[in-house]
Amino acid sequence: MPIAMIVHGGAWAIPDDQVDLHQAGCRAALAVGWEILNAGGSALEACESAVLLMEDDPIFDAGTGAVLTSEGTVELDAALMDGRSLRYGAVAGLRRIRNPITLARRILEGPATLLVGDGAERYAEQVGITLCANEELIVERERKLWEDWRAGRTTPAPFDASETPSTPSAGHDTVGAIALDREGNLVAANSTGGTPFKLPGRVGDTPLIGCGLYADAQIAAAVCTGWGESIARVALARRVIELIERGFAPQSAAEAAIRTLVRQVPGGSGGCILLTHDGRVGMAWNTRRMAYAYRIEGGEVAVGV
Ligand code: GLY
Repeated sequence: MPIAMIVHGGAWAIPDDQVDLHQAGCRAALAVGWEILNAGGSALEACESAVLLMEDDPIFDAGTGAVLTSEGTVELDAALMDGRSLRYGAVAGLRRIRNPITLARRILEGPATLLVGDGAERYAEQVGITLCANEELIVERERKLWEDWRAGRTTPAPFDASETPSTPSAGHDTVGAIALDREGNLVAANSTGGTPFKLPGRVGDTPLIGCGLYADAQIAAAVCTGWGESIARVALARRVIELIERGFAPQSAAEAAIRTLVRQVPGGSGGCILLTHDGRVGMAWNTRRMAYAYRIEGGEVAVGV
């Protein structure tokens, strides 16, 4: 079975001066995952390792470097889905976990599917994951953005009380990965800090099965990024899978799913990546940019925004 992998670093108006770092981060994550797949490792391992690298890369809104809530804290969500067993592990509202994707994996391997907040952190300790201080996840760039927002020096939160984002392309993103291993298994994974200045406790699409991600090794896997409230309303990831089931080509499926998002939710914005069971790739977004990298065995690495 040929191996394949695709990762993304978020769909939003990535500023010109951050493009290179986003592309470099995606390239590095793909390389880590590819090495695992190429050595015969599992798609689960490849996805966890790729997303973990992006969580540790402060350029991305995931793990260290995530955007801040309205209270100036970091709250993280992540998920991982195994396309063969349909097992699923997800976390939300984490404040003291450096790598939520690793906890999501431990949950996937345990009795629960989704753990949130304090309970998730207590479970992390039980399975040997060390907690960190919330401040350790905060980088200077995000603290400054939050201080400017609090002082009224920047526009309000892009996803505030109004139904529609006032600035749909404002700074936010999510990281994600999909891998196809030599055994033919497909795995999807993602991780995020959510939207800037979000309400504490707010959870977007990322850890919601069928919304932020879905994997079915018989068909395809999809991972979404963008304005989580809009993505969740149309269950975007599951929609992508259904389009593939109906016979759409991967690129057409990705584009059709994003058209649906825009048509059905006012201001709906985001992107998606997908990988089929036979190693074909699709991706689409309606934001200014989406950072991505992919490789299909026998081909070169493709990186772009
Ligand atoms: N797509 C990430 C979020 O809205 O939380």
